[in-house]
Amino acid sequence: MAIAPRSILPLLLCVLIASFHSSSSSDVKLGYWLASRPIVSSANLHLYTHLTYAFAQLDPSFQISPQPDDNGNIAQFTPAARALNPAIVTLIAIGGGGSNSTRFAEMAAAPSSRATFINSSIALARANGFHGLDLDWEFPQSQREMSDLAALWAEWRAAIQAEATATSRAALLLTAAVYYRATVQNVGAGTYPVDAVNANLDWVGLMAFDYHGAWDPTTVGPHTALYNPDSSVNTDAGVTSWLGQGLHADRAVLGLAMYGRSWILASNESTGIGAAAVGVPADSTPFFRDIVSFIRDNNATAVYDNTTVTAYCFGGGVWIGFDSPVSIATKVEYLKSRALKGYFFWTAGYDSSTGALANAASATLDSR
Ligand SMILES: *[C@@H]1O[C@H](CO)[C@@H](O)[C@H](O)[C@H]1NC(C)=O
Ligand SMILES: *[C@@H]1O[C@H](CO)[C@@H](O)[C@H](O)[C@H]1NC(C)=O
Ligand SMILES: *[C@@H]1O[C@H](CO)[C@@H](O)[C@H](O)[C@H]1NC(C)=O
Ligand SMILES: *[C@@H]1O[C@H](CO)[C@@H](O)[C@H](O)[C@H]1NC(C)=O
Ligand SMILES: *[C@@H]1O[C@H](CO)[C@@H](O)[C@H](O)[C@H]1NC(C)=O
Repeated sequence: MAIAPRSILPLLLCVLIASFHSSSSSDVKLGYWLASRPIVSSANLHLYTHLTYAFAQLDPSFQISPQPDDNGNIAQFTPAARALNPAIVTLIAIGGGGSNSTRFAEMAAAPSSRATFINSSIALARANGFHGLDLDWEFPQSQREMSDLAALWAEWRAAIQAEATATSRAALLLTAAVYYRATVQNVGAGTYPVDAVNANLDWVGLMAFDYHGAWDPTTVGPHTALYNPDSSVNTDAGVTSWLGQGLHADRAVLGLAMYGRSWILASNESTGIGAAAVGVPADSTPFFRDIVSFIRDNNATAVYDNTTVTAYCFGGGVWIGFDSPVSIATKVEYLKSRALKGYFFWTAGYDSSTGALANAASATLDSR
């Protein structure tokens, strides 16, 4: 009915082009937040667009519920986050690295259990004021489980739309945390149903970390390598794998770690990436804020590795691979160059008190 007069069409086009090119409100700056920890005022939440409660768990009857150590935090989560950033959008993540992947497979295998799960997830999100749901099934272990996952996503999206229509509310977001590449390695080699992601999810978060760790105690390594000339296990290879399978770039959110991975050096004379190690310290996944203290307290040497786009430090016989503000900024430049939708941090609570990593990421995403 309304046809724009010819004279204002060029103006409209300019506005559209300008809004397309500027950092848009659809850019995702997401932080996960541990369910066991109340949200604190020092969380630097003004640097985030989304905050995800991690995790709700899947019970044996395929309903979801808060973790036992949540201690009632779920009901406070969205009000507490919005008190610090009134525009922040909150999600509930279901599952996580420590959850039972067999149970997810059983739930996804039949229409009735999928429906129970979907209904329960929407109810829990709405009862606690969340704006979205995030599936962290780590990981589907076969092509059969991947096709069950596709059915789950399609039915979940349909139920979310139906609930939004029936209640006249904005539809919940639907997202998932996924393996860093489109084919899950080591556990059955299933490839994700990428078409079902494009059709049903707002985005997938690529878990682009944990490439090296305590499971290889003899060699120090960059657990978040963006590139690695010595290994195909790196973030650029993962992003290329997902996009090569047909994932729309604007459905991909890049995972960034706010924690390091540490080893005990075999020698204080050999301290570069790939140096020999004799094991790992008791806490082999120090948070970024603890790494900052470690460097100060041990007069440790910190190095930026331009090849892998990671940082590492060593002191007192301990070596830690991590991301610094510089490596984070370089990774955000990378995700912009590939037109991805944004980034997530695991977890926002691990940053320094000034939010050094979240600041570096946010400023880089916003800059032209
Ligand atoms: C994982 O879940 C399945 C299905 O609910 C159950 O049979 C199994 O005992 C669970 N495993 C553990 C370790 O809890
Ligand atoms: C879940 O199922 C119950 C019982 O069938 C129904 O009353 C309720 O509306 C459903 N909730 C959602 C969010 O679909
Ligand atoms: C810290 O290390 C540097 C060299 O790495 C050394 O020159 C300096 O004296 C050390 N400072 C302290 C307080 O140990
Ligand atoms: C490494 O540094 C060089 C020179 O400063 C720069 O041209 C190159 O882009 C950097 N590589 C990465 C991966 O950042
Ligand atoms: C490296 O130096 C630290 C002291 O700075 C010492 O505790 C540690 O044993 C040394 N490691 C080796 C392998 O010699």
